[in-house]
Amino acid sequence: MTKTKVALLGAGFIADIHLESYHRFVPDAEVVAVYARRPERAQSFAQRHGVARWFSDWERAITDSGCDVVDVCLPNFLHARAVRAAAQAGKHVIVEKPLCLTLEEADEMVAVCQSHRRKLMYAEELCFAPKYERVRKLAGEGAFGQLYQLKQAEKHSGPHSDWFYDINQSGGGVLMDMGCHALAWFRWMLGGQPKPVSVYAHMNTVFHHGRTQGEDNSVVIVEFEGGVVGIAENSWAKHGGMEDSAEVYGTGGVCYADLFQGNAALTYSEKGYGYAMEKAGSTRGWTFTIFEEAFNQGYPQELKHFIDCVRNDQPPLVTGADGRAVLELLYAAYASAGRGQKVKCPFTAKVAKPIDLWLKPA
Ligand SMILES: NC(=O)c1ccc[n+]([C@@H]2O[C@H](COP(=O)([O-])OP(=O)(O)OC[C@H]3O[C@@H](n4cnc5c(N)ncnc54)[C@H](O)[C@@H]3O)[C@@H](O)[C@H]2O)c1
Repeated sequence: MTKTKVALLGAGFIADIHLESYHRFVPDAEVVAVYARRPERAQSFAQRHGVARWFSDWERAITDSGCDVVDVCLPNFLHARAVRAAAQAGKHVIVEKPLCLTLEEADEMVAVCQSHRRKLMYAEELCFAPKYERVRKLAGEGAFGQLYQLKQAEKHSGPHSDWFYDINQSGGGVLMDMGCHALAWFRWMLGGQPKPVSVYAHMNTVFHHGRTQGEDNSVVIVEFEGGVVGIAENSWAKHGGMEDSAEVYGTGGVCYADLFQGNAALTYSEKGYGYAMEKAGSTRGWTFTIFEEAFNQGYPQELKHFIDCVRNDQPPLVTGADGRAVLELLYAAYASAGRGQKVKCPFTAKVAKPIDLWLKPA
C-alpha cells in the first residue's frame, strides 16, 4: 500500500516533535510538505528533515501538496480556519490542542468535517502517553477501587513563542495552553461518560506581568456526575523545569505518575549542556535530563493511531467533539474565576475568546 501523505502546517516547536514522530514511528506516513509563515523557515525545516515541498501559504500547502492528511500545528487562533480549509479540500485533519478559540468555531469544525466525510482528531497526546495509559488500565481493572479524585499538573516557566502571550492569538493564558491537557485527561480517565456538574477555578498572573494579559497560574476543580473530582494545576510561573504529573485516588488505592522527573536521568553539570527540552532555564548544577520526550508523552502513538484510522477507515479515539467538551470546561473555568464562584455545567457563553470570561466577567 502507498504511504499516507501528510502536510504539516507549522514548523515550530510541536511541528518538530510531530515530524520526528512520523519519521521514527509511523512508517505508513510520509510528510510531503511543510508550511511556515516565513519562507526561509519553511525551507530550512524542509531541508533539515528531508521534506520534499515547503510553502509559506498554508492554504496552498493544503491544496497543492497532494496530501491526504493535514496536521495543524499552528497558533490556536488559526486552528478553526485551517481545519475548515482542509476538510473542504477533502483532507482528513489532526489538530493540535486547544481545539480552537470559541464553541461556535468548534461546532463548525466538527460539522464541516462531518459534511465532507473527513476524520477530525483532537491531538491530546496524554491519552496516548504510555505511563498514563498504564495508569488508566490499572484504574479500569479496579486496582484503585472506586475513584474519587484525579489530579493532573503541567507547569514550567513560560512558553517559547510570543503568540502564546497574546490572548487574541492564544485565547487565554496557561489554562488555555496547558489546562486543556488536564481537562481532556480527566474525561479520558473517566471514559467520557460522567458529565461535568460544576467547575470552580482560581487564576492569577504572578510572573509574566507586562508580557501578557493572560493568567500564568491556575487551579481548576471539576466535579463530575457520580462525585469524582478533577484538580488541574497549571503554571507558566514554575521554575526549575517542566512538570507533567498525574495522581489517581480511589477507595482501594492510589497512583502517582510523573512523565518528566519520574523518567529522567538525574544529572549534575558544572558547565551545563545544550539540550534544554526540559524548559529548565539552565542546565547547570543539578538537573533532570529527559530522554525520548516525544515517545514518553505519547505523540508518536497519537499520530500512528490517526494514520491507522485514516488507512483503515476507523474513527479516532479522541475527536473534535472531545476537543469541544474540553473547550466548554475551559469556558466554565474562566467564567468561574471571573465571577469568583462555582459555575454549573453545561456552561456556554458568547465570547470572542475564553479568557474574556475572566477579564470581563460582566
Ligand atoms: N500537544 C502539546 O503538548 C503541544 C505542545 C506545544 C504546542 N502545542 C500546540 O501546537 C500549536 C503550535 O504551537 P508551537 O509551540 O509549535 O508554536 P511555535 O510558535 O513554535 O510555531 C508556530 C508555527 O506557526 C506559524 N505561525 C505563527 N504565527 C502565525 C501566523 N500569525 N500566521 C500563520 N502562521 C503562523 C509559525 O511559522 C510556526 O511555524 C499550538 O496550538 C499549541 O497550543 C501543543
